[in-house]
Amino acid sequence: MSLLTDKTPPQAAIRRYHQHSKHHPGRFAPGPGYMDWDNQPDPFRRYVGAPQVLLELAADRLTTSYAALFDPVGTVPPAPMDGRGVAALFELALGLSAWKAYMEVRWALRCNPSSGNLHPTEGYAILPDIPAPDQSITPDIKAGVYHYQSHDHLLEQRQAVLASSSKAWHEALGRGAFLVGLSSVHWRESWKYGDRAYRYCRLNEGHAVAVFRMAAAALGWKVEVLTAPGDDEIARLLGLDLFDQGGEKHGGIVQGNHDSQSDVAPEAEHPDLLLCIRCPSEDRSGQEPLISKLTDALQSDRWEGVPNRLSEHHALAWPVVEEAADQAWKPSTKTEVKALVSSPPLLKLECRKSAAKLIRQRRSAQRYDGKGGLSMSALFRMLDALLPRHECPPWDMFSWPARLHPVLMIHRVQGMVPGLYALPRRPEALSVLQKGMDRSLLWKKVSSAPLHLPLYLLRQEDVQDFSRMVSCQQEIAADGAFSLGMVAEFDAGLAQGPWGYRNLFWEAGALGQILYLEAEAAGIRGTGIGCYFDDLFHQALGIQGETLQSLYHFTVGVALEDNRLQTDPPYAHLANRF
Ligand SMILES: Cc1cc2nc3c(=O)[nH]c(=O)nc-3n(C[C@H](O)[C@H](O)[C@H](O)COP(=O)(O)O)c2cc1C
Repeated sequence: MSLLTDKTPPQAAIRRYHQHSKHHPGRFAPGPGYMDWDNQPDPFRRYVGAPQVLLELAADRLTTSYAALFDPVGTVPPAPMDGRGVAALFELALGLSAWKAYMEVRWALRCNPSSGNLHPTEGYAILPDIPAPDQSITPDIKAGVYHYQSHDHLLEQRQAVLASSSKAWHEALGRGAFLVGLSSVHWRESWKYGDRAYRYCRLNEGHAVAVFRMAAAALGWKVEVLTAPGDDEIARLLGLDLFDQGGEKHGGIVQGNHDSQSDVAPEAEHPDLLLCIRCPSEDRSGQEPLISKLTDALQSDRWEGVPNRLSEHHALAWPVVEEAADQAWKPSTKTEVKALVSSPPLLKLECRKSAAKLIRQRRSAQRYDGKGGLSMSALFRMLDALLPRHECPPWDMFSWPARLHPVLMIHRVQGMVPGLYALPRRPEALSVLQKGMDRSLLWKKVSSAPLHLPLYLLRQEDVQDFSRMVSCQQEIAADGAFSLGMVAEFDAGLAQGPWGYRNLFWEAGALGQILYLEAEAAGIRGTGIGCYFDDLFHQALGIQGETLQSLYHFTVGVALEDNRLQTDPPYAHLANRF
């Protein structure tokens, strides 16, 4: 089926995709309905034959505490932008965090979470000449475009910049800055989730963006999500436009098509976004990187390495996912002016753990104990970390205003009555939410919360059954301290163009990532919930139409460990390297 007709404007098309990909009780968004285990996509992309730059495991050298990650930029002394810094950044952002094993089956976990542990997000580095650090296995890294291969913690050189273009390349990047590019393999998610995969890929990107922000904060570096580049520019810069030669525009191969082309071509990567990483002590200009100048400095016929095929066979096709991608394809635009938002300093955290340790110990809970809760002060701190502060990580990376607002289903927080609560993350959002929701909701400010924390009781009731039900009957939503839905100002997000749909999911994923880390810091555990019944949640809040839409759910509680699983260290297989 096609969501679109030739005359459907992209805005309407992406709205249709959104409706089409909703789960309803008794009617899930179209998906495979079974697991084709023989063709589970390889979670590791490799550019076979590309020159490799081995990175050292550098994260353990960082002494920054987790609590210090949220300090204003400049508080954590910036690490030099050398091979060790780049290695630590990628290790903490997209690197492996552990191996798990059960009987014959073994799988890797990473610092970034991922729906189904399928890891659609790929990472690239667009680097200037990077000096080798003292006493390191990492050599000087030549200016160019690299793919990060997390299984072996190395960079695959896709293209080194020629000496004749080096000056132009460095000028276009600016001093003390480099770029990280993110892309997604839609197939990895649609293999399991079918048409809902387009959403999941965007949520995974949001997690990855936040994980990069917090990893960079541990190094004392800044991060900005670049708003101007269009997808065509990003694809050219990362060498992803080459996938077009294997099949359709943007999509590379047609997922699951049975023709001989698609059964041999590597699965395409969708260009997502660019992050500018800056070292405050080296970059004083704050110059916006000039993307077109960077692509001009590359040679279209000098890309190294052949991307691996991830599944031998694609039994099913998910053209709706590629249609959604086409409709939300972003053109080049002007750089957005940053929304300046300040809040009083973040509530203090009683956690002395190092940032590197905490980022790597993050895991999703599989089950909660159904008993343990959270103190009120721990909840308030966790929610405070979600409020935008333009001068502090992580919310300093986005230029757009906060458009997602948690609606909490509180089960077990000491001193708080169970019920529905809301946290409008921007003062103006309060009236937007009030207007868009049922008039009978209380909107009573929680008096025990710090003055600056806009937490409101909406309805006092036991919401465990509702929380489980709305989360596709998943027990983890009822057995924890709380769960929540992230209600987006949907119309406002799409007003700039259909690609605004992506930005909303990025913000949702970033909120999820901070909740994951904050849960670990509080000594408990979180889990992202992508499987929820969209409109059932909306109905409970009296949300009609599309002004407001819930885009991601999350749950936090006291986790029960599965002791049948064996846990191994992430990079024992690289022991010979060091
Ligand atoms: C976007 C997203 C959606 C997810 N949805 C669910 C879900 O509905 N139910 C669930 O139990 N876990 C969910 N998870 C958690 C993943 O299963 C988990 O991240 C993955 O297995 C990797 O494990 P880790 O987080 O411990 O590294 C989700 C994670 C993400 C990022």
